[in-house]
Amino acid sequence: MQTIQLKDKEFRLYISNLEIEKKIAEIALKINSDYHQKELTLVIVLNGAFRFAAQLIRSLTIPIQITFLRVSSYRGIQSAGKVENNFDVDLPLGGKDVLIVEDIIDSGLTLQHISAGIKKQQPASLKVATLLYKPAALKYDVTINYVGFEIPNDFVVGFGLDYDQQGRGLNDIFVLNEKLSE
Ligand code: XMP
Ligand code: MG
Repeated sequence: MQTIQLKDKEFRLYISNLEIEKKIAEIALKINSDYHQKELTLVIVLNGAFRFAAQLIRSLTIPIQITFLRVSSYRGIQSAGKVENNFDVDLPLGGKDVLIVEDIIDSGLTLQHISAGIKKQQPASLKVATLLYKPAALKYDVTINYVGFEIPNDFVVGFGLDYDQQGRGLNDIFVLNEKLSE
């Protein structure tokens, strides 16, 4: 079993880079067909989703625009329960087909917050793509249109995701080698 140490915690290999890239290519195929002959505006949620977005874009054949949004709700391995962000997207989203690109959806709080902010700009359509989704952790009423992997309620790092800013550069996804206490 491949394990790594980040600060005080041990993580074990969970999803390999090969599986991740294969899954993202499948999502891109679906998006290409769903938005056929349309232009798609990606709102990429920083920091975690940068890598998922970059890989997704490699396989998108439809025309795209991109913009970024910085959000943060996690401290260490637990959600802080509130979202910090400003809606400083540098593109007008009114009338556009918008896709939110997230690294992971946990309680759904971040997504609900971002969706509400974007909806105020009255996009033509709004959908959500996330690399990872923890159904057991969901507390808010959100719609997710494209999901890479559904995972249990465990803390993961790698492929853009961090534990206290560490691990974002890992090519594979690793899971915490202990259970999260509720
Ligand atoms: P909510 O609860 O708002 O959380 O849906 C979404 C945000 O929380 C972060 N998050 C994680 N980050 N490993 C991480 O590195 C995880 O297992 C994890 N779970 C949630 C993430 O930033 C996401 O945007
Ligand atoms: Mg994040």
